[in-house]
Amino acid sequence: MVKQIFVCNGPTCNTKNAKTIISKLDELTSKKAEEYTIKTCGCMGHCHSAPNVMVDEIIIESVRLDDIENEVLLGNGKKAKTLNEYNADELIKDNFLNDI
Ligand code: FES
Repeated sequence: MVKQIFVCNGPTCNTKNAKTIISKLDELTSKKAEEYTIKTCGCMGHCHSAPNVMVDEIIIESVRLDDIENEVLLGNGKKAKTLNEYNADELIKDNFLNDI
Protein backbone atom coordinates (compact mmCIF):
# COMPACT_ATOMS: atom_id res chain seq x y z
CA MET A 1 0.00 0.00 0.00
CA VAL A 2 1.28 3.46 -0.92
CA LYS A 3 1.93 5.75 2.06
CA GLN A 4 0.29 9.15 1.63
CA ILE A 5 2.49 11.87 3.12
CA PHE A 6 1.38 15.48 3.36
CA VAL A 7 3.84 18.11 4.52
CA CYS A 8 2.14 21.18 5.93
CA ASN A 9 3.07 24.20 3.88
CA GLY A 10 1.08 26.68 5.94
CA PRO A 11 2.74 29.85 7.23
CA THR A 12 3.93 28.56 10.61
CA CYS A 13 5.26 25.24 9.33
CA ASN A 14 6.87 27.10 6.46
CA THR A 15 8.89 29.19 8.87
CA LYS A 16 9.94 25.96 10.61
CA ASN A 17 11.65 24.24 7.70
CA ALA A 18 8.72 22.70 5.80
CA LYS A 19 10.60 23.08 2.52
CA THR A 20 13.65 21.30 3.94
CA ILE A 21 11.42 18.50 5.22
CA ILE A 22 9.96 18.07 1.73
CA SER A 23 13.46 17.95 0.21
CA LYS A 24 14.67 15.41 2.77
CA LEU A 25 11.59 13.21 2.30
CA ASP A 26 12.04 13.35 -1.48
CA GLU A 27 15.67 12.34 -1.03
CA LEU A 28 14.92 9.54 1.45
CA THR A 29 12.15 8.05 -0.71
CA SER A 30 13.76 8.56 -4.12
CA LYS A 31 14.65 4.88 -4.46
CA LYS A 32 11.23 3.75 -3.23
CA ALA A 33 9.04 6.18 -5.14
CA GLU A 34 6.36 3.53 -5.71
CA GLU A 35 5.85 3.23 -1.93
CA TYR A 36 5.21 6.90 -1.15
CA THR A 37 3.32 9.91 -2.43
CA ILE A 38 4.59 13.17 -0.98
CA LYS A 39 2.51 16.30 -1.32
CA THR A 40 2.16 19.62 0.41
CA CYS A 41 -1.02 20.90 2.00
CA GLY A 42 -2.34 23.98 3.77
CA CYS A 43 -2.46 24.55 7.51
CA MET A 44 -3.50 21.46 9.48
CA GLY A 45 -4.68 23.50 12.44
CA HIS A 46 -1.81 22.29 14.63
CA CYS A 47 0.45 25.34 14.27
CA HIS A 48 1.47 25.12 17.94
CA SER A 49 3.42 21.96 17.12
CA ALA A 50 4.89 22.99 13.76
CA PRO A 51 6.37 21.62 11.63
CA ASN A 52 3.73 18.97 11.00
CA VAL A 53 3.54 16.10 8.55
CA MET A 54 0.51 13.85 8.00
CA VAL A 55 1.11 10.19 7.21
CA ASP A 56 -1.94 8.15 6.23
CA GLU A 57 -4.19 10.64 8.07
CA ILE A 58 -2.14 10.71 11.28
CA ILE A 59 -0.44 14.02 12.08
CA ILE A 60 3.18 13.75 13.20
CA GLU A 61 4.00 16.84 15.25
CA SER A 62 7.23 18.78 15.75
CA VAL A 63 9.11 16.86 13.08
CA ARG A 64 12.86 17.16 13.59
CA LEU A 65 15.08 17.54 10.55
CA ASP A 66 17.69 15.16 11.92
CA ASP A 67 15.19 12.36 12.56
CA ILE A 68 12.81 12.49 9.61
CA GLU A 69 13.28 8.88 8.55
CA ASN A 70 12.47 7.57 12.03
CA GLU A 71 9.66 9.99 12.83
CA VAL A 72 7.89 10.13 9.46
CA LEU A 73 8.81 7.11 7.37
CA LEU A 74 9.04 4.60 10.23
CA GLY A 75 6.11 6.18 12.10
CA ASN A 76 7.89 6.81 15.40
CA GLY A 77 7.25 10.55 15.61
CA LYS A 78 5.06 12.33 18.16
CA LYS A 79 1.49 11.77 17.02
CA ALA A 80 -1.12 14.48 17.44
CA LYS A 81 -4.06 13.65 19.62
CA THR A 82 -7.42 13.15 18.00
CA LEU A 83 -10.21 15.41 19.24
CA ASN A 84 -11.54 12.56 21.41
CA GLU A 85 -8.20 12.29 23.23
CA TYR A 86 -8.16 15.89 24.49
CA ASN A 87 -9.43 16.86 27.92
CA ALA A 88 -11.36 20.11 28.43
CA ASP A 89 -8.37 22.18 29.62
CA GLU A 90 -6.32 21.17 26.60
CA LEU A 91 -9.18 21.99 24.25
CA ILE A 92 -9.33 25.51 25.67
CA LYS A 93 -5.55 25.91 25.64
CA ASP A 94 -5.32 24.81 22.01
CA ASN A 95 -8.20 27.10 21.04
CA PHE A 96 -10.47 24.33 19.81
CA LEU A 97 -13.38 25.84 21.75
CA ASN A 98 -12.97 29.47 20.69
CA ASP A 99 -15.89 29.38 18.29
CA ILE A 100 -18.37 27.72 20.66
S1 FES B 1 0.89 26.12 9.45
FE1 FES B 1 1.25 23.99 9.69
S2 FES B 1 -0.26 23.39 11.09
FE2 FES B 1 -0.67 25.48 10.78
